[in-house]
Amino acid sequence: MRRILLDTDTAGDDTIAILMALKAKDAVLEGVTINCGNVGFDQQVENALYTIQVAGKSGKVPVYPGARRPLLRDWRNAEDVHGGDGMGDSHFPRARQRPEALHAVDAIVEIINSNPGEIDLVEIAPMTNLALAIRKDPGIVKKVRSFHFMGGANQYLGNITPAAEFNTWVDPDAAKIVMESGLAPTMVGWEICMRHGVLGAKELAAVGKMGTEESKFFLAVNRQVRRFMKKSYGMDGTVCTDSLTMSIVLNPKVATDVRRRYVEVDNTEGPSRGATIVDELGVLGRTPNSDVVYEASQGLFRDMLYRVLKGGRV
Ligand code: RIB
Ligand code: CA
Repeated sequence: MRRILLDTDTAGDDTIAILMALKAKDAVLEGVTINCGNVGFDQQVENALYTIQVAGKSGKVPVYPGARRPLLRDWRNAEDVHGGDGMGDSHFPRARQRPEALHAVDAIVEIINSNPGEIDLVEIAPMTNLALAIRKDPGIVKKVRSFHFMGGANQYLGNITPAAEFNTWVDPDAAKIVMESGLAPTMVGWEICMRHGVLGAKELAAVGKMGTEESKFFLAVNRQVRRFMKKSYGMDGTVCTDSLTMSIVLNPKVATDVRRRYVEVDNTEGPSRGATIVDELGVLGRTPNSDVVYEASQGLFRDMLYRVLKGGRV
């Protein structure tokens, strides 16, 4: 049984990753930690609690509030992408479950230390909580079973600036700490999501025909993303980033080409802030620190996503 600890800045795509983890036959979601990112922090906490309720697991998955701000930088939201509430402006009702009193950073340290070698750590947000947890107890980096993160862009345009993807841009200092900590990450970059995680109008129409609570939830939380993609990228569709990452965690076969590379995060202030530099040719002479996903199976991902949206298991 896989035991997943998920760090999230809960908005549309994050919620589908949470649903997928909760629908996994051979995984349990040990906890959800909330990091600053997409929308207002307290709204993100509510979004996570509500998503757990949608999955029928209310009260069964603890939600730990964490860093409300990046380590050093000013925070900028992504409400233009996800809507003011992060959920396509659906303004869902308040969930019954309430968040834990324990801070996310303490929860990450305690859960990993209490279960050495057991926890699959998944990061789909800026890495502030994780960097603080590593600073609090550096020993945790050797105690996780695996670490996957959605973030960065490998030789590809960013989505928040020309150089950077949102998660590594919001808190590049935290990302740098994590990448240099000795944690052995598997990186799922923005380019993989844009190549293999997009659902176009035809696919979204198919989701609409499913008629399940999960499919209606998916379309609702992606309502604003679809508008944003049309306006910014001229494409009618939505891009699944965090759920594609979760599908790789649950089924490694989704990642069809993974290469070991040295990856460095640019934490300077300026146009390249938050860029993930992948040393393709090894010219920096640094020991590779990451498994970078170079290709993924759109078919395997969609199959897993559709099973979840039809109310099934993965
Ligand atoms: O760049 C996309 C990533 O940033 C996703 O994880 C999205 O939820 C935001 O956190
Ligand atoms: Ca996210």
